[in-house]
Amino acid sequence: MKVPLVDLVTQYNSIKAEMNEAIQQVLDNGQFILGPRVAELEEKIAAYHGLKHAVGVASGTDALVLALRALDIGPGDEVIVPAFTFFATAEAVSAVGATPVFVDIDLQTYCIDTNQIESRISKKTKAIIPVHLYGHPADIDAILNIAGKHNLKVIEDNAQAFGAEYKGRKTGSMGHVSCFSFFPSKNLGTYGDGGMLATNDADVADKVKMLRAHGWKKKYFPVTIAYNSRLDELHAAILLVKLKYVDKWNEKRWQTAQKYNKLLNAANTVIPTEASYAKHVYHMYVIRVQRRNELQSHLKQNEVASAIYYPIPLHLLEAYTDLGYNKGDFPNSEKACQETLAIPMYPDMPDEQAEVVVKSITAF
Ligand SMILES: Cc1ncc(COP(=O)(O)O)c(C=O)c1O
Repeated sequence: MKVPLVDLVTQYNSIKAEMNEAIQQVLDNGQFILGPRVAELEEKIAAYHGLKHAVGVASGTDALVLALRALDIGPGDEVIVPAFTFFATAEAVSAVGATPVFVDIDLQTYCIDTNQIESRISKKTKAIIPVHLYGHPADIDAILNIAGKHNLKVIEDNAQAFGAEYKGRKTGSMGHVSCFSFFPSKNLGTYGDGGMLATNDADVADKVKMLRAHGWKKKYFPVTIAYNSRLDELHAAILLVKLKYVDKWNEKRWQTAQKYNKLLNAANTVIPTEASYAKHVYHMYVIRVQRRNELQSHLKQNEVASAIYYPIPLHLLEAYTDLGYNKGDFPNSEKACQETLAIPMYPDMPDEQAEVVVKSITAF
């Protein structure tokens, strides 16, 4: 049996009539940029997180860039980011001219190690970007504490954790600004690129609205150099349909994870942990094994898909050679890059597929 890493077509088929109608309505209506559906989605996502404002943008990467710009972070400033995350978290910092300052991760949660943040803070530090990696919340209270002490902003990178919770509070509701990605495979994903910011800060929300539309408050009268980064109506319509199901889908992911946990107990792998404060939404189910590359080849031979998120830590990327980091600087991040493997995980994954995956891992 072939087992895919994710299966977006099965998900589409489960809501096909409703989705087709939502898309058709946009086509019939003829308004494609920043229309009523974008406004409705912004309202609903803000409410989902108990926040006052949300602003739709073109991608999760742009959400991070616009968050930084709206907080006036730029050249000469430093921003703390984990050394193990998707490149965009740090790329956004560099894109606004600031410098990412890396911090190692905690190997239990794969999120930033909060014990190592303070030693990396300097006079230039303006913000911390924790990432709720793989759907597991970072230790936000500890981060907010440090941020409060040093007068830093916290920008939550919630790209991978829509619907996750930290001590009963939604991830993406606790920082000064939070950023979302609607990349197709995300827990809440569209059929293309999309992103959003959410915040209680009206000034930040207004600034982002200005920045996403060429820096103009009044049309054709830009007040700053900005971007064209808008979420469009088709994506908003798609996301409004999916938003109704996301909690149910997250619950299904969690159930699949419990099944994996139980079955993988006998295999010689490190399974994901859930911190006592966490409700994990398993954007990915990631195991750790020493002979990771061999395991991946073995799974491939058995038609079981898997993926490495991520093969190289940020401090060792070619793009960041000028920052002067060395191998060994962040051992946990480096270990994660060598040993982690994401195995198939999606909401409608049949039990038989999970069993095939586990059998194949156990045989290895
Ligand atoms: C942790 C993280 N941050 C940022 C992004 C950027 O999002 P996007 O691909 O929508 O630009 C992603 C996803 O791709 C991500 O996983």
